[in-house]
Amino acid sequence: MKEPDQRRFPFSPFPIGWYWVEFSENVKKGQLQSKTWLGQRTVYWRDDHGKVCLANAMCPHLGANLSPSFGGKLEEGLLVCPFHGLRYNTTGQCVHSPVGELSRPVSLKTFPVCETGGVIFAYWHPEGLEPEWSVPDLDDGDWSRFVYSAREIRTHPQETSENGVDITHLPYVHGYSNVESLEPLHIDGHYLRNRFRLTRLVGPSKHLCMKLDVHATVSMWGVGYSMIEPVMQDAGLYIRQLALCTPIDGEKVNFVMAMQMKDVERPNVLMPGLGLMPKRLLNALLLKIFFKVYVQDISQDFDIWENKQYLIYPRLDASESSIIHFRRYCEQFYTSVE
Ligand code: FES
Ligand SMILES: [Fe+2]
Repeated sequence: MKEPDQRRFPFSPFPIGWYWVEFSENVKKGQLQSKTWLGQRTVYWRDDHGKVCLANAMCPHLGANLSPSFGGKLEEGLLVCPFHGLRYNTTGQCVHSPVGELSRPVSLKTFPVCETGGVIFAYWHPEGLEPEWSVPDLDDGDWSRFVYSAREIRTHPQETSENGVDITHLPYVHGYSNVESLEPLHIDGHYLRNRFRLTRLVGPSKHLCMKLDVHATVSMWGVGYSMIEPVMQDAGLYIRQLALCTPIDGEKVNFVMAMQMKDVERPNVLMPGLGLMPKRLLNALLLKIFFKVYVQDISQDFDIWENKQYLIYPRLDASESSIIHFRRYCEQFYTSVE
């Protein structure tokens, strides 16, 4: 990690909070994987009971790298070190040593994990403290499965999250119209909410398109986890978009865009005749279209994020005070010991 004065941002690249690790379907029993997550070399796996573990890849016995590319492997759901064969369970505890009983307990550094709605998150705190808040339950209601894609970007999660309160860029960068705030920014501890409305045309031309008049709620649980919920009440359209920003190495983040939706209740409101399509096909098609639009829209921010400078004293208009409130909200995710 760079010294503070060499950094691009005047705060740690690894704020406290919950961060995306993987989607559940990509973490199968018996398969050990590794990645750099919040500047840590980590390994992760699912044990035979279905429990997922994310752990530091360094064996606490004598420092061997536990990644599968260096000989780390799973046996009966336990992580086996390639050096002296110590075995660890998903709580990080060493439960077996080939040389017999250990004279003192040995345990891996693990991170608190939460798996919900097909998404795996883990909690990062620079001093290894326990989570102060939890992420929302995504297993509620009749939502479709998530569709998703990821991009590596050179930025910081506070920058990507700041977009969620910056409604003045929405018409200019994304071409939305009728953008209007619906309520003042709501901040309650680790939770932040911003509500606004907008109109977005979706389709190949002005004459052949869906006009989406949506009320959107942006919720944040820390800087790594934002959820955007566009609702179009008259059509009975409910969408959830996740914007998950996970620092990799202090320079780049893994930016994951995910979407799920409920079956649309009144499709003819979106476009006359849509209701004639078979329901399953229609909802699968709409999810595909809306996700494509979501990714396209967010991609318009990438170049700006990668190349902008973080201004400690931006020259904002009085109408943009949400950005200042957002930055104050963010302060709680940093400690001075980093
Ligand atoms: S270093 Fe891992 S078992 Fe010795
Ligand atoms: Fe944006």
